Amino acid sequence: MTKVLIATEKPFAKEAIELIRPVLDNAGYEMVLLENYTQKQDLLDAVADCEALIIRSDIADAEVIDAAKKLKIVVRAGAGYNNIDLDACTKAGIVAMNTPGQNSNAVAELALGMMVYSARGLFDGKTGTELKGKTLGIHAYGNVGRLVAAIAKGFGMEIYAFDPFVVPENIEKDGVTALSSAEELYSKCQYISLHIPANDKTKKSIGTSLLSLMPKGAMLVNTARKEVIHEAELMQLMQDRKDFKYVSDIEPDMASDFKEAYGNRVYFTPKKMGAQTAEANINAGVAAAEQIVDFLERGIDSCRVN
Ligand code: 3PG
Repeated sequence: MTKVLIATEKPFAKEAIELIRPVLDNAGYEMVLLENYTQKQDLLDAVADCEALIIRSDIADAEVIDAAKKLKIVVRAGAGYNNIDLDACTKAGIVAMNTPGQNSNAVAELALGMMVYSARGLFDGKTGTELKGKTLGIHAYGNVGRLVAAIAKGFGMEIYAFDPFVVPENIEKDGVTALSSAEELYSKCQYISLHIPANDKTKKSIGTSLLSLMPKGAMLVNTARKEVIHEAELMQLMQDRKDFKYVSDIEPDMASDFKEAYGNRVYFTPKKMGAQTAEANINAGVAAAEQIVDFLERGIDSCRVN
């Protein structure tokens, strides 16, 4: 019997598991759950006899891939797949996929929620500011970026975007002004919402050279990845600029230094929770299970990333 391991250090909602199970049952597969695990060894043991693996931000590195002798496919139930060692998968003949778009709305809603929370001084009771009329720069106009733009419109924000991989017409049709460089975006916008992936090109790419261009009353909102931030440079910049705020859904490595130095000018969610809604868990989890069945039964690999 084909075994599908769902290994989630941060588990899916119960409702999602209830909907994933019949997808695998109907295909005649066995679903194995490894939730809330704290030791890598637990994952190494569990994956050893499985043909398919579903993960969230769980790390599928070369050691995990090597331990998974029967594995044919790993699906990251979510958008970013920087937690999977793609080279190791390819070498082992394992297909890697993500589930693009499935949890985007949850992340976009959180981005706006974090903007309001920070603009209102983390609800400290003191006078804050409004989003209405402020300039918002969306850095990368993919599934999440587009939804952030749509929601921000309701707040009356003036919206700009930069994405070298999207033709300007596809940005402008949404009533968003397409800019031709990141420098232009950061110079124009008080609020920047990050939606770039973490890869060799983007790691530590958000630092002094871009952030110092932001106008007074700047807020950086990160629902993407911590790796894209140059933390030391941001730390220094916030010392020089008392108007600068940073909110992130991913705790920086230097989280306690930031909190100690800048108090309520920074806010970090305790656990990455952009995709932590029942709806997003259902969408991404069911999509992952369906993609596994489609691949193993019919060879369909349209969401393949390696
Ligand atoms: C994603 O890349 O889809 C998000 O970062 C969600 O990550 P999570 O599944 O670990 O919450």
